[in-house]
Amino acid sequence: MSKLHIATSINGEPVEFLADPSASMLDALRGPLGLTGTKEGCGTGDCGACSITVDGRLVCACLMLAVESEGHEIGTIEGMAQGDHLHPLQQKFLEMAALQCGICTPGMLMASRALLEKNPDPTEEEVRFGLAGNLCRCTGYDKIVRAVLETAAEMRGAA
Ligand code: FES
Ligand code: FES
Repeated sequence: MSKLHIATSINGEPVEFLADPSASMLDALRGPLGLTGTKEGCGTGDCGACSITVDGRLVCACLMLAVESEGHEIGTIEGMAQGDHLHPLQQKFLEMAALQCGICTPGMLMASRALLEKNPDPTEEEVRFGLAGNLCRCTGYDKIVRAVLETAAEMRGAA
């Protein structure tokens, strides 16, 4: 199958790559683009491990074709820290041990950031609802939810 030339933007940088017409965005990120921070849990849209943003909207990269990224702004976990400066959510996940194996973590962080951008002062219920599409087999969720709530409070204090 001949590959298609795709021009997109990833984490603010213009990017061009070749993709099979049937390749998922997840396969493109982890393959030719070398961005392996986005994880594959299920490959069927059920776990949220592959969460990325497309024009600011949270999307499962396993459910999107790579060719659909043409002309859009893609955000991945690699764009979350600014150099060595972690995003407050990343820092808090580390401090509060909100991760174990780490497979869900990039997706949890992307979903948490999207949630806080829309709602900087969420209730616990709203955090749990906002992260309902992201599965974690390790933490039992409480540490993740507490980390998101604490980050939100700190970010409001810093604003
Ligand atoms: S790998 Fe995409 S939702 Fe699970
Ligand atoms: S830390 Fe292992 S799946 Fe969440």
